[in-house]
Amino acid sequence: MRVLVTAGPTREPIDPVRYISNRSSGKMGYAIAEAALDAGHDVILISGPVNLAPPDEATFVSVSTSDEMFDAVHRHADKCDVCVMCAAVADYKPAKVSTAKIKKRREKVLLELIPTRDVLDSLGHWQGRQFLVVGFAAETSDVQENAERKLREKNCDIVVANDVSSADSGMDSDLNEVTILFRNGERHKILRTQKTIIARELVKIFVKSATIMFDKKNVTVTETQLSEVIPNSSPVPRVAD
Ligand code: CTP
Repeated sequence: MRVLVTAGPTREPIDPVRYISNRSSGKMGYAIAEAALDAGHDVILISGPVNLAPPDEATFVSVSTSDEMFDAVHRHADKCDVCVMCAAVADYKPAKVSTAKIKKRREKVLLELIPTRDVLDSLGHWQGRQFLVVGFAAETSDVQENAERKLREKNCDIVVANDVSSADSGMDSDLNEVTILFRNGERHKILRTQKTIIARELVKIFVKSATIMFDKKNVTVTETQLSEVIPNSSPVPRVAD
């Protein structure tokens, strides 16, 4: 299969030397890219600025802003079987980018922000898509409820929810604990462990879900095999073309 993964933060420029960003390290996305390669899949990794070396065997696309990430994902998504939106895309960007460095003044400064384009939402609502859409939900409260809302509103097939409120799990950590939500209401929890281990399990779930939902040809899977990966699973309903 061909797997597209986004990872890391985006940077939204204010002026030539300043930007708005977030604490995403890219570790979860890079771990998913590595795990997909190890499982024999082709990988396109689209990454914001991080301190990680991309895997040699991946097709690597380096981006900085949310607009660059949106355009790169849209160039590649249609050729893929699974799209995993792990990046922490900034929700807002400055309404105007100053071409010159903004000088310090005595009075307060108000920065006008406008919403960025939502990459995940645009993939979820892609007409007639033949690829699995996976979103991530980084939450600090009401994790399940917020993740469920994202799954529904962005028309995802799977949302991987994680609580980023604790310092030793989630953003910038090597550890994570996630709950995987499926469109048919099923849930599957992976208890706190290394992101690399979580990534391997996630890749198995994504590939098998894509196989069932979109009749992908290069992997054959039976319902019995799926229930080995997703406990208490029943067949995932097919998305309307
Ligand atoms: N996402 C995206 N494009 C954006 C914002 C978010 O593709 N402009 C994707 C992320 O890659 C992730 C999912 O949406 O897969 C959820 O991101 P998250 O930051 O948890 O949620 P938001 O939709 O931004 O909502 P909120 O910040 O209110 O929780």
